[in-house]
Amino acid sequence: MALVFRLVEKTKIAILKVSTAEISMSLDLNQKIYVAGHRGMVGSAIVRNLQAQGFTNISYRTHAELDLTNQAQVAKFFEQEKPKQVYLAAARVGGIYANNTFPAEFIYNNLMVQSNVIHQAFLSGVKRLLFLGSSCIYPQLAPQPMSEDALLTGKLEPTNEPYAIAKIAGIKMCESYNRQYGDLHGIDYRSVMPTNLYGPGDNYHPENSHVIPALIRRFHEAKVSNAPEVVIWGTGTPRREFLYVDDMAAASVFVMHLDKKSYDSETHPMQSHLNVGFGADITIADLAKAVGNAVGYQGRILFDSTKPDGAPRKWMDSSRLNQLGWMPKVNLTEGLSKAYQEFLADHS
Ligand SMILES: NC(=O)c1ccc[n+]([C@@H]2O[C@H](COP(=O)([O-])OP(=O)(O)OC[C@H]3O[C@@H](n4cnc5c(N)ncnc54)[C@H](OP(=O)(O)O)[C@@H]3O)[C@@H](O)[C@H]2O)c1
Repeated sequence: MALVFRLVEKTKIAILKVSTAEISMSLDLNQKIYVAGHRGMVGSAIVRNLQAQGFTNISYRTHAELDLTNQAQVAKFFEQEKPKQVYLAAARVGGIYANNTFPAEFIYNNLMVQSNVIHQAFLSGVKRLLFLGSSCIYPQLAPQPMSEDALLTGKLEPTNEPYAIAKIAGIKMCESYNRQYGDLHGIDYRSVMPTNLYGPGDNYHPENSHVIPALIRRFHEAKVSNAPEVVIWGTGTPRREFLYVDDMAAASVFVMHLDKKSYDSETHPMQSHLNVGFGADITIADLAKAVGNAVGYQGRILFDSTKPDGAPRKWMDSSRLNQLGWMPKVNLTEGLSKAYQEFLADHS
């Protein structure tokens, strides 16, 4: 599945060759690429990946410089900047507490950001755009592993329904623009649905973070204070899937550059998204042990089974993307160790 990237310095043209799909395409390393949300966890990883591959013309604006919920600002930006490609990694993102407390903000901000970016990208002539969604688009009781076909087959998890509805609208917006304008204007707007991500740029807030950053913080604090035990909520039996964010960025760049024939071979005009997962899940108990090892915590790990567990399993079926030639590179042990080093650097 090796991705062979050969740079031809003189012409600034790269040949991307994906062995499994036998795709070979020319990339202009000078083309202007807009990464929306470049200071976020995923956006910053996409910028790192593009820079590492030699892309030289990456465009970005902070939230303060460009509010993507503001249609006039977004229109002006695209008119002036005229990017050729867009990665849409800007979103109002948060955990269960934030989703439950601010449902109006979650649905409004996400619908506005994605509508403005997708529509103005289209008006300014962007031919290729990648929209980032989330595994919460799938029904609460979707069969495991969750395949792309599970979309719109059942009720969503109530806590993040407004966010999920916005993400589903983003996928459908990309599809609708492709269906109406694809042939006429040569546009090809794609969507990827990542599983739970972790790594550099993660949010380590004590009350409002996802499971891996929350565990890293708790184990680190327990280690520093010599606490004899760490208590984890729930039974430890639910299974979850985690992907290192640099792998997600690599998948995003990979999907963006897949030729149309290959992308179309694993998608349909009205089901055009691709899952991006690690390919295996782990129990929360084993995850806690792995985080404890990464942090170097020597005490005991206990589980408070009086606290709720959540869904027994959440695991993505990423076989379509794997079939196209992408595989993750960073295993959980390596990823947790890197994430902890980054946490230490930022929180020392
Ligand atoms: N992290 C995960 O585990 C995960 C899992 C699955 C999917 N995803 C998806 O990946 C995407 C990116 O997530 P992330 O984890 O990178 O989130 P993040 O770290 O919160 O980054 C989101 C970025 O978007 C920017 N943004 C939000 N609203 C904006 C606005 N109105 N105008 C301009 N910029 C705005 C934010 O800037 P400010 O901070 O300044 O507002 C932030 O830099 C999202 O679509 C998310 O659904 C993430």
